[in-house]
Amino acid sequence: MTAYASLRQELRADPCRWLVTGVAGFIGSNLLETLLREGQQVVGLDNFATGHAHNLELVRRAVGDGAWARFSFIEGDIRDLETCRRACDGVQLVLHQAALGSVPRSLQDPIASNDTNVTGFLNMLVASRDAKVSRFVYAASSSTYGDHPALPKVEGVIGKPLSPYAVTKYVNELYAGVFGDAYGLQCIGLRYFNVFGPRQDPNGAYAAVIPKWAAAILEGETVFVNGDGETSRDFCFVDNAVQANLLAATSERADAIGQVYNVAVGDETSLNELYRLLVEKLSAVCPGLQAKPVVYRDFRSGDVRHSRADISKARERLGYEPQYRIDDGLDVVSRWYATSQSRFQGNPQ
Ligand SMILES: NC(=O)c1ccc[n+]([C@@H]2O[C@H](COP(=O)([O-])OP(=O)(O)OC[C@H]3O[C@@H](n4cnc5c(N)ncnc54)[C@H](O)[C@@H]3O)[C@@H](O)[C@H]2O)c1
Repeated sequence: MTAYASLRQELRADPCRWLVTGVAGFIGSNLLETLLREGQQVVGLDNFATGHAHNLELVRRAVGDGAWARFSFIEGDIRDLETCRRACDGVQLVLHQAALGSVPRSLQDPIASNDTNVTGFLNMLVASRDAKVSRFVYAASSSTYGDHPALPKVEGVIGKPLSPYAVTKYVNELYAGVFGDAYGLQCIGLRYFNVFGPRQDPNGAYAAVIPKWAAAILEGETVFVNGDGETSRDFCFVDNAVQANLLAATSERADAIGQVYNVAVGDETSLNELYRLLVEKLSAVCPGLQAKPVVYRDFRSGDVRHSRADISKARERLGYEPQYRIDDGLDVVSRWYATSQSRFQGNPQ
């Protein structure tokens, strides 16, 4: 049995009380769904800055009213310390996901990104410390590797940040390290690499590449590629990220605490290859789909050229074993976007 399978058994036998911040967002709502399915008590915090009430409604429908009764939601902002304290009250394990994502958003409005991703993060650390939570797991980012060219990315070797977003995510790691050393708060950072999956928002100027392209292909619109299409990423299906969170929150190994981990698959896929795969998968669920040829445009500032993770640290210390490679994940999201497009028309709230 894998470490994850046995962990899920243990959680079912002895449930915990969790806080998921950013619970109405993409990764947060996937964490919520798994935790409720595994019999856990969950408090969720979100201000709907980029998340949506319909994500919570979709989770409610997926898990049923019985499991949903174990969830309580606080609509609030992590930039407010008292809200963070209220959310942490009586909580054992924190999965902190709330942040303003996106490199271009942070270049457009660095102050907003800093307010939520740094000040809000610090509020969550203080509230977690004072509530004496047993573990604080937080969403870090592969953007922290910045301009360092080495591949694969190994946790200890980082470069200069290329965007305000990358700065905020690196500052999170620095603060978490200090809260571990100075106050004994058990923190673990998960450097996500291009996570994708159901409920990732395809709308808006800052949408991630897979949902944006899936929606465009389904609508018969032109797909734009930033650069020559040979930019590559280690695309990680969301269930792998959920697994990493649960393992990090519960690991009893002393050398697992106070660390950051790459959360990815260890694969490298170019944007050209991604487009080919997406068209193939979407055509399988929507026969007759007519995809237009892509249009190449300038490289986007702040973007890293290539990204591929070494995941051996998470494997060794957390027992992380990704269950989905890009192919498997794209099968799931292609079905999901093909059947849920109508939910995203007009105002998605
Ligand atoms: N998706 C990825 O590929 C990826 C990669 C690296 C890191 N991350 C990090 O993972 C986390 C989750 O990302 P996601 O992809 O689910 O994004 P998302 O935008 O879907 O989710 C973020 C959630 O946080 C909420 N939020 C934002 N500001 C808030 C505030 N001030 N107070 C309370 N809630 C607030 C939003 O409303 C949203 O529901 C973020 O910290 C992000 O930086 C994501």
